[in-house]
Amino acid sequence: MTTNQKGLFITFEGGDGCGKTTQLNLCAEYLQKKGFSVLVTREPGSQGLGEKLREVLLHYNGPVAPTCEAFLFLADRAQHINQIVKPALETGKIILCDRHTDSSIAYQGYGRGENIKQIELLNNIATQDIKPNLTLVFDVSEEIAQKRVGSQKDRMESAGKDFHKRVRNGYLEIAKQNPTRVKVVDANLPIEEVFKQVKKLIDNIIQG
Ligand code: TYD
Repeated sequence: MTTNQKGLFITFEGGDGCGKTTQLNLCAEYLQKKGFSVLVTREPGSQGLGEKLREVLLHYNGPVAPTCEAFLFLADRAQHINQIVKPALETGKIILCDRHTDSSIAYQGYGRGENIKQIELLNNIATQDIKPNLTLVFDVSEEIAQKRVGSQKDRMESAGKDFHKRVRNGYLEIAKQNPTRVKVVDANLPIEEVFKQVKKLIDNIIQG
């Protein structure tokens, strides 16, 4: 958290098919009803240039070098922080962001095998050192995740079972290493049960 930060920055993370987007939307509704000014956003591709990068990252058919992939997600992040997140934080909004820095660590680091220390460093550059106040990691079994993703898979979702196992374990490792910021939510349960866990964590942070 930077010293001039007025708002709250909350990130939603987890493997493909973990159900975090549903929970993010429930959370937005919950906070808006309480009278907070909420901004919902995502990575990759929140708007403008980010949309173009998202298209390449999720749907480009040719070979993509792992380091190139890492830099493209980071490029999207740099633009997103500058254009969307930083200005919203300065005006005191609660920002709910679907994926952020931990996706790079889990997917490009643990998943693809890129150097994690280097990704952390590049994340700091891309984010201008702005850190989430809270990160929720939605953890779900392989079987449930696969069912939720379905058969229409994008480039990342098609990366294979072992890759997604490494991503899941990566997230759990990230949570272990950052116990204050990162909280694991059991996402195997029905939507309302998952949201009960989320609400508790959100209430804690807004009461602050
Ligand atoms: P998206 O359709 O937004 O999926 P989801 O609903 O699961 O978030 O696709 C984003 C994909 O990009 C997802 O497979 C995770 C991946 N990703 C990375 O590999 N690294 C990153 O830094 C980010 C932000 C996303």
